[in-house]
Amino acid sequence: MSSSSKHLRSVVKGVGSYLPQRCVTNAELEKTVDTSDEWIVQRTGIRQRYFAAEGETTSMLATHAARAALAAAGVGPEDIDLVILATATPDYTFPASATQVQAALGITRGVAFDLQAVCSGFVFALATADKFLTSGSHKRALVIGAETFSRILDWSDRTTCVLFGDGAGALVLEAQESSGALSDRGVLTTHLRSDGRHREKLYVDGGPSSTQTIGHLRMAGRDVFKHAVGMVTDVMTDAFAATGYSAQDLTWFVPHQANERIIDASADKLGIRPDQIIKTVQLHGNTSAASIPLALSVGSADGRIKPGDLVMIEAMGGGFTWGSALIRW
Ligand code: UT7
Repeated sequence: MSSSSKHLRSVVKGVGSYLPQRCVTNAELEKTVDTSDEWIVQRTGIRQRYFAAEGETTSMLATHAARAALAAAGVGPEDIDLVILATATPDYTFPASATQVQAALGITRGVAFDLQAVCSGFVFALATADKFLTSGSHKRALVIGAETFSRILDWSDRTTCVLFGDGAGALVLEAQESSGALSDRGVLTTHLRSDGRHREKLYVDGGPSSTQTIGHLRMAGRDVFKHAVGMVTDVMTDAFAATGYSAQDLTWFVPHQANERIIDASADKLGIRPDQIIKTVQLHGNTSAASIPLALSVGSADGRIKPGDLVMIEAMGGGFTWGSALIRW
């Protein structure tokens, strides 16, 4: 990359997250679902997940996470001119839940919209915000992933209902001038993909235009698993090719937290060491678009992720959609 021409880069100013109060352990699920703590831990790494309270919506979780991110960034709602909320579980069919977050925060300028890429949603939202910020059209973005997947689970399907949880995470991104050097802070490169031929492997069997119902999550887990490792390692390889970095250069690998075995297999394939990986799947389950910002929040709060670190995020989900982003934190 050129180091002579000045351009804009999207720099992480702060990160925050929010989990509903109710923590549900595998042992609690054993009481109502034909499953076992041993099976869930062995096959997925998940030990617990959180479920939103009755009446607690995605935009409420998102608003809490956004407030925490604003506080961490040291900026106020009036400083934000772009809100992108990645979610597959919006409060209502419309308006976009992002507009409700915007209103709850008291933001009256700029633009807010939802982005739907299921588990890849946060990576897609970050990449989208990056395009807005580096174009110079907007200055400061809230990029949020928030979900209430507990509302679309089929409790009679043990192959899916034990996997997912609710939660939210948010980043504040700010457009800053950069020399273009890879050592300068900010989003270095993003790579997004989708392929709609895979719809049947992971989808919700309802919607306003088809069934006029909300529907339930359906997943052919083994099929998804088979595709996941190849897809996420492809887009991480794209990120390495675009920057010249390799797995050894990463300070942190913060993947979508769907299944510990997918995380480990992806890391192993690229030569990422176990001590480079931030894992929260054991604590949160699969929170879809919220999983990466939740993991980034945990890693920042406990002092692992620090300014200047090289952080790779990636995800794969329904559609299929998949993507990666490499960030100089
Ligand atoms: O975030 C979007 C991306 N989604 C994912 O990444 C999920 C990808 N897939 C997965 O994580 C895994 O495929 C699962 C965790 C969903 C399943 O693991 P698996 O090793 O692929 O198991 P399986 O589906 O092949 O099932 C193995 C056995 C079956 O029994 P039989 O047929 O071998 O007798 C299932 O009936 O495990 C059984 N089983 C369960 N047993 C206890 C399935 N679900 C459960 C359960 N408790 N909850």
